[in-house]
Amino acid sequence: MKLFLDTANLDEIREANRWGVLRGVTTNPSLVVKEHAQFLTLEKEICSIVDGPVSIETAANDLDTLVAQGREIAAIADNAVVKIACTPDGLGATKKLTSEGIKVNMTLVFSAAQAILAAEAGAYIVSPFLGRLDDIATDSLQVLGEICEIYDAQGYETEVLAASIRHPMHVVHAARLGADIATMPFKVFQSLVKHPLTDRGFEKFMSDWREAKPNLGELPSSMQEA
Ligand code: E4P
Repeated sequence: MKLFLDTANLDEIREANRWGVLRGVTTNPSLVVKEHAQFLTLEKEICSIVDGPVSIETAANDLDTLVAQGREIAAIADNAVVKIACTPDGLGATKKLTSEGIKVNMTLVFSAAQAILAAEAGAYIVSPFLGRLDDIATDSLQVLGEICEIYDAQGYETEVLAASIRHPMHVVHAARLGADIATMPFKVFQSLVKHPLTDRGFEKFMSDWREAKPNLGELPSSMQEA
């Protein structure tokens, strides 16, 4: 399962990129607004940092405007993906843009029925929102599981992206259910690597090393200072 960051913050993207496991980024209007930056400059910069798809969201809900916005968003960079909400006009715009070779991430998906529509419209990615379903006492993992099962049964090529992730177990469950991608806030991304036994084990290895170092004879040069 590919790991994406759900952010428009350049420092977070750069830091996650350093780890070598970042495969893409999703942005949305709320995330972009938080950065108080120039929209185009910011999205271009994100696209240049990330070696993978960067979803950039449209801001309209009529077919013609969505198509016009989609074309301009796709022109921002080769890895730009157009994010469109799952509405009747959004589906129509997805069909049109897809027929022009533009990649669409169908967002704000909350049911298997909507995910079927997204795939039929030719979306490149479908984004079911886990956290927001959990917030209204709906089993988001059941919905995600249904979508993965239906996509497998139907042979849909649309990639399933688990979105609105709130904690590391969402990521683990999404991977078990067969999601292709999980997008998450930087805080959740960081929490994936954290384990108290790793920290404790590392400290112990290092203190043993430092104590015994003078008696270990010749060391590789990069280990002499450690
Ligand atoms: C997905 O692409 C969305 O940007 C995102 O996951 C929404 O998450 P939220 O519910 O935390 O706002």
